[in-house]
Amino acid sequence: MRNGHPGNDSQTQNTLTFVGNGTNPKPDSHTNEIAGWLTMTRQLVDTWIKEDIASMDIQSGSVEEAMSYALQAGGKRIRPQLMLAAADYVGLEWERIRPAALAIEYLHTYSLIHDDLPAMDNDELRRGKPTTHIVFGEAMAILAGDALLTEAFGKMALLAEQGFPPHLVVAAIDLLAGAAGRTGLVRGQVQDLAAENKAVDLDWLENIQLLKTGAMFTAALAIPSILAEDHENIDALTAFGQHFGLVFQMVDDVLNVVGDSKLLGKSTGTDASRGKATYPRLMSLEEVNKLIATHVEAAKRELDGSRDDILAGLVDFARDRSW
Ligand code: IPE
Ligand code: IPE
Ligand code: MG
Ligand code: MG
Repeated sequence: MRNGHPGNDSQTQNTLTFVGNGTNPKPDSHTNEIAGWLTMTRQLVDTWIKEDIASMDIQSGSVEEAMSYALQAGGKRIRPQLMLAAADYVGLEWERIRPAALAIEYLHTYSLIHDDLPAMDNDELRRGKPTTHIVFGEAMAILAGDALLTEAFGKMALLAEQGFPPHLVVAAIDLLAGAAGRTGLVRGQVQDLAAENKAVDLDWLENIQLLKTGAMFTAALAIPSILAEDHENIDALTAFGQHFGLVFQMVDDVLNVVGDSKLLGKSTGTDASRGKATYPRLMSLEEVNKLIATHVEAAKRELDGSRDDILAGLVDFARDRSW
């Protein structure tokens, strides 16, 4: 199904215009801007996902069918993109972290399937398509989420086949588990639901957003540093990821108020109708935009100016995005 959601486009454009000489591909001179880099890397991640799905036995009515539907509905792939940018930052080849890039997108996709369930946010539109439980039923959606989460950790284990020493692979898995579970995303989701229709203050809200959204971004950024044994940069990239996560979620909250549902690929106005704790509920849109600008600057301050500047471009994208 094609629609106005930009994420669906990359399914049909399969030409990767890479230039490169054995290290990571860079956009060619015509696309040497962040938009070109984003398209190129989204296509790369889409190709990796497609290849992985091709290795699954997809029968009608199977859990793989629901997994494939959710994975290929057309997401931005921003978490794997952050991981690729962080790999550039610490000098790792993209191909070597392919399993980790798949893992973070699978884990994220599971979190969206469960987030949309009637018991949680009860949403019927995601990535421009009916949500997984609408198409496959609630039980299959829960199971597809379970399988994607499990598959994510299976993928992380495959890092051992990419020449990384086992103790570094274990450290990366440990970090992802912490970011995904009761000390990260899951805790944030619990707090997000608990805060519905409550009078939350800014500190509480920031804590929810850092957990439910920020934790996956910090994991995406820290994992390449761990694998490259580049300890020097982990703290700065983690701090960058926290500011990035806040920018990303604040913009998500703003787009839920003023965004275009067709572009976003999800319904708008839903936060207010559910009494969600969001930035626009605590302050004016102008004030949210000021806070976004503060975190954009704070994120950029964490970066070492002499390294790759893709990360700075990504935080601008997070601020300016309309989908
Ligand atoms: C949506 O994430 C959930 C949030 C944390 C705001 P994305 O905006 O990255 O969703 P997709 O992957 O592009 O669909
Ligand atoms: C989703 O947060 C965060 C996770 C899935 C962990 P939201 O509920 O605010 O995001 P959308 O608006 O449904 O994408
Ligand atoms: Mg939610
Ligand atoms: Mg939601």
